[in-house]
Amino acid sequence: MIKYTSTVAKKHASTEHRYIAKNAQTEATLPDGYDWESYRAYVGPPEEYDVFSAMVFNLLTSLGLRQHHRILDIGCGSLRLGRLFMPYLNPGNYYGVEPNQWLVEAGIQHETGQDLIQIKKPVFCFADSMAEFTQPLALNYAVAQSIFSHCGNDLLENWLSEIAFHLQDDGALLATFLLGDRDYSGDGWIYPECVCYRPETMATIASKYGLGFDILDWAHPRQTWALFSKPGYDKRLIQGGPIGWNRLMRNGDDE
Ligand SMILES: C[S@@+](CC[C@H](N)C(=O)[O-])C[C@H]1O[C@@H](n2cnc3c(N)ncnc32)[C@H](O)[C@@H]1O
Repeated sequence: MIKYTSTVAKKHASTEHRYIAKNAQTEATLPDGYDWESYRAYVGPPEEYDVFSAMVFNLLTSLGLRQHHRILDIGCGSLRLGRLFMPYLNPGNYYGVEPNQWLVEAGIQHETGQDLIQIKKPVFCFADSMAEFTQPLALNYAVAQSIFSHCGNDLLENWLSEIAFHLQDDGALLATFLLGDRDYSGDGWIYPECVCYRPETMATIASKYGLGFDILDWAHPRQTWALFSKPGYDKRLIQGGPIGWNRLMRNGDDE
């Protein structure tokens, strides 16, 4: 389990900040005296916190996420994604797994408030695996935003194996990873540094656990989105054209 240190948060923030400096659209608009060592900086550039929330919520809803669906947020951190998913989903349908409990507590304190937790009854697991869930959760979706970019081989395999166990037969995992020419060869959790994998490697590991692998046309500031799907997943919304709201409304027809 990774322990919070201000050094990790600062390093993560400054590494990711280099990218932002190049992108004129994402000028920092933080309050004076913003605390860079906070729960926001720990999971990525704090001034992009809102963008990541929107990117993931829009992706999932464009692929058909509905209120009655059950979703697992892997490495849910300070609820950057959960703060939008929880109000949307029916009570009890948001699961968050996160080894750093303090991040979830800070997310509840500063982002969602306790009332939302009382109303929507999310299920949190403070661990780095799903070992405590011995029965399948029958998930419709799982999401791993900026998780595989920090996973060594052992963790990547473990997450894909556990997700395959917990997804319904027509369910899917949406995950980001860093594309590389060569695969990272080590094990363990690497943070805040990142690791790369080749798409071929991702596809091979996915198929080992009965999951399909497709790269998605959905922009991310630095990483690549992929869909790891169970055989029954309907791919009409991700193939043959861009993912989008209009397409969803037309039941997958492009025009
Ligand atoms: C870059 S942050 C992304 C957080 C969140 N997914 C988001 O997009 O806001 C990585 C998160 O993974 C958590 N984490 C640490 N070890 C992990 C592990 N072995 N498996 C999954 N997540 C882990 C970290 O505590 C942190 O919250």
